[in-house]
Amino acid sequence: MEKIHPLLSVDQLSTGYSKKTVLEGVSLHVKEGERIAVVGRNGAGKSTLLLTLLGVVKAWGGHILYLGKESTHASPGERVRSGMALVPQGGRVFANLMVRENLELGAYVTKDFKAIDSSMELVYQTFPILRTRATQEAGTMSGGERQMLAIGRAMMSQPKLLMLDEPSLGLAPLVVKELMEKIHGLSTALETTILIVEDSDRGAECPGGL
Ligand SMILES: Nc1ncnc2c1ncn2[C@@H]1O[C@H](COP(=O)(O)OP(=O)(O)O)[C@@H](O)[C@H]1O
Ligand SMILES: [Mg+2]
Repeated sequence: MEKIHPLLSVDQLSTGYSKKTVLEGVSLHVKEGERIAVVGRNGAGKSTLLLTLLGVVKAWGGHILYLGKESTHASPGERVRSGMALVPQGGRVFANLMVRENLELGAYVTKDFKAIDSSMELVYQTFPILRTRATQEAGTMSGGERQMLAIGRAMMSQPKLLMLDEPSLGLAPLVVKELMEKIHGLSTALETTILIVEDSDRGAECPGGL
């Protein structure tokens, strides 16, 4: 299949909060099907970068080209509808909803019920524990399980570009290794491009596993 390239092209991006500049002159190119890791220290602006790519934090300057379209000032909703998904830092889930309900919420931009069923099946095959716990409240799951649920939820919309904010944060190395293998498998099955950010102070175990 002919690939569109690059899927995401960031050129001289700058942004920040109030008067504080956080990102300045950031450029990066992600081709379709790639799995890319951006590594930086705590406070370097990794979360800010992902939030800016999603449009939650506004860009001050530079350009974001997504799917060949100028998207620097597109709303987060437009970007999600055109196939971006973010797993926020800390693997946040809706603690008082069931595991299955959390997954269903991930598919709210999908109207094709067959696609929703097959995505859910793929998520359950990838993370069998989520099927076992389908009717359990998400808040009762362990940190690693919640991270799996957060990733599973993001995959429910079958995103073209999945962004993961420090998915290994707070998890034991063995759990991280398993998680990275699963992310790899899911991205292959759904042809999802992966942009992951990780903390450089916690070793390179994660990108190595990706
Ligand atoms: N909502 C916010 N308001 C003001 N400053 C913020 C906000 N979020 C992050 N920052 C600041 O921006 C810088 C980058 O933060 P962040 O993107 O969270 O870094 P990282 O994810 O790499 O740890 C830090 O100095 C942080 O204190
Ligand atoms: Mg962060």
